[in-house]
Formats: sequence, structure tokens, C-alpha cells
Amino acid sequence: STCDPWTAISAVIRKKLQGYVGFANLPNQVHRKSVKKGFHFTVMIVGESGLGKSTLVNTLFGTTLYPNKGETEPSDETPKTVEIQSLSADIEENGVKLRLTVVDTPGFGDFVNNEESWKPILENIEARFDAYLEQENRVNRRKMVDNRVHACIYFIAPTGHSLKPLDVEFMRRLHTKVNLIPVIAKSDTLTEDEIKQFKQRILDDIAYHKIQIYQAPQYEYDDQETLAENREIISKIPFAIVGSDKEVELPDGRRVRGRKYPWGVIEVDNEEHNDFVKLRQMLIRTHMEELKEHTNDVLYENYRSEKLVTMGVQQDQTVFKEVNPLAKMEEERALHEAKLQKMETEMKMVFQQKVQEKEAKLKQSEEELYARHKEMKDALEKQRLELEEKKRRLESGRPITPEKAKKKGFSFNNK
Ligand code: GTP
Repeated sequence: STCDPWTAISAVIRKKLQGYVGFANLPNQVHRKSVKKGFHFTVMIVGESGLGKSTLVNTLFGTTLYPNKGETEPSDETPKTVEIQSLSADIEENGVKLRLTVVDTPGFGDFVNNEESWKPILENIEARFDAYLEQENRVNRRKMVDNRVHACIYFIAPTGHSLKPLDVEFMRRLHTKVNLIPVIAKSDTLTEDEIKQFKQRILDDIAYHKIQIYQAPQYEYDDQETLAENREIISKIPFAIVGSDKEVELPDGRRVRGRKYPWGVIEVDNEEHNDFVKLRQMLIRTHMEELKEHTNDVLYENYRSEKLVTMGVQQDQTVFKEVNPLAKMEEERALHEAKLQKMETEMKMVFQQKVQEKEAKLKQSEEELYARHKEMKDALEKQRLELEEKKRRLESGRPITPEKAKKKGFSFNNK
């Protein structure tokens, strides 16, 4: 029951949103094209039974994605492994569409032996990578469907101590494959001080085991407000959350989502009471695109290249190339690159030839110009010489005027 979950079990439900969720802000995160296509986000929820996973999902998206537990037929047989179920809903806010897929992992940590609870989850994440890889290899890549898991919310039981071996094992196995977002479940069962200390211990454990949880990047080009907002979000990790899809009444008569206790009400949407708002902000309003990008550019890319390497090894051992789509793809890519290279060389050659032609032409016209110039100069010189000769002849054969004669000392006798 663990394979092909995104088609098998997923049912797309249209949902009307109650209240503001915040993904109408998504167009600010990416460009227009995505708005037209609609957004697609897949989030995985992992944690032991009863930690409030379904409640959180319902709270997070302001819609009952999960039917009431009472309405579902309880199944007679208890599953022997971690089951993986996925559920999609098309939700819309201010004309912005979001297809949200939630991948649930019931059964995680519920067995006597939980040593390999992480395994079906890892397999599921990798199967989704494989499905994407397979699409990339297709000739027609226009209709790519991205079913990769973009974020994994991991529920930590509110023990107030530290991480359990199960938590460490899960995160250690998964941290290079998915964006891990740890949360402290049902944080209303801990006091403020307990939460503070628990958070620190969790972070210490995570660091000690060299686990890479999702790190929201800080961009220098972001404005001060965004940077501050990001810092604030990051400072809350692991988010201490409270979930509730029910409204309760406050003493002043207002109705809010929360949990009622004899000593008062814990409000889900109140940042003073818990980190739910910050978690939602990060997932939906500020980091959805970043989570998708990191999944594609880092997590998937690492998986893909590792896969290519192992495929490459197999390729050396057998005549694998013909049937291996990855090798084929690589080959196609190499061919394409060679083609581009050839085109570039050809273009360079044509360019060079054109330049040479132009240069030759210029040189020719220059020579022509020079020749014409010389011709004209010669003609002028010839003309000048002729004129000079004429002048000389005229001067020598001309009768002398009286003035000139006088100057020359001739004397005239006019009488
Ligand atoms: P499974 O479906 O068994 O995996 O459980 P789950 O993790 O989905 O838990 P679910 O959402 O069904 O919640 C289990 C119980 O915990 C319900 O009674 C919820 O009302 C309650 N619960 C959920 N969230 C919180 C919370 O933040 N604080 C407290 N105190 N109780 C919660």
C-alpha cells in the first residue's frame, strides 16, 4: 500500500476556504505564469499517532481536508507498516488557485518495532523523485507534473525532554531528501519555560547528530522588513504549535480558533500563545516558492546525479545504454551540446568570412580611391605644366609695351 500513492489514494476535493490563509500573496513570490497555471504544493506530515497531525492540516489550510474521524469507516485490520496516503484539495483565495497535496503517514512510530518506520517514507519520497525524473526524460516535457514532496513537517511529541531515537533516526535518514520542518506538537501541554528549554535541547540534538533541517536562506537584496520577518520566523524553529479546528468563546464574547482550559483559552492564531502563525507564514506566505526551489535545485538534483552515477556504473557492466533512459538522456544532452557547439563554430566562421570580405572590399575601394586621386593629381600637374609652357611662349613672343621698354632702358623717338 506504499507505492504509487499520489494517484491511488488521492482524491481531489474542491474546498471553500473559511477565513484568510494567505496564499493569495503567492504572486509576489513568483511571476505571472504560475498564477495562470495555479500553484501546486505538496507537504508531508510525519509523526506518531495522536500528536494532532490531521488537526494541524485542517487548521493550517482553514479547511477540513480530513473528514471527521467519526465519519470514516474504522478498518478492522490494523496496518502492519507505515501507510502512505495522499490527499489533494484545490483551494482558492482572491482568485489565486492552489492545489495542495498532503501526504500523511499513518502508522509511523506505532509499532512494537519502529526501527524501519522511516523506510517506507523515504521510498515514497524517492519514488516521487523517480516519477519526476522519468518525466524529464520524455520527449514532450511540456506537461510536467511535480509530485515531489516540498516540505516535511515532523511532529515531535511534547515530552519536554529531548528527541527520541525514533526522531533522530527519521531525520537522519531523510534530511538530504526533503525539507525538514520540525514542530513541537500540542505545545499547549507545556509551559512557556518548558517550551523554551525543550526547543534548545531539540536544536542541540539536531546539531549533535549533524541533521540538516530546512534553513530559510537570507538574501542580501531583501528589504529590511523581509529580512526581519525571516529572522523572526527562523528564530521560532522548531515551531511550538497548537492546532484546533474548533472555535471557542473568549470571555469577551469573541469566537476564535483555540482550545479551552479551565484557566483560559489558548488561541491558535495568537502569536503570543504559540508559533502556529509563524509556521503558516513560512509555509504559505513567505517560503513556499523557496521550499519548492530548494527541493528542485538541491535535494532532487543531488538525488538525480547520484542516480546517474549508479546508472553509469551499471552501464559499464552491461550493455545498458539501449534500455537505460538516463544514459539515453545524457547521450541526447551530449549530442545536443555538440550540435550547439557546431552551430557556434559555424556562426563564428561565417562571421569571420563576412568580416574578411568587408575588409577586402574596403581595401579595394581605398586603392581605387588612391588611384583616382593619383590620376587626378597627374592630370592637374600636366595641365599646370602646359599652362606654364603657354605662358612662357606668350611672354617671349609678345610686342613690348612702352612702359616695359622704358623700364628696360630702351629709348623711343616718337617724332
Ligand atoms: P492519527 O490520525 O492517529 O495519526 O492522529 P493525528 O496525529 O492525526 O491526531 P489528530 O489530529 O487526530 O488529533 C488527536 C487528538 O489530539 C484529538 O483529540 C485532537 O483534538 C487533539 N489535538 C490536536 N491538536 C492538538 C493540540 O495542539 N493540543 C492539544 N492539547 N490537543 C490537540
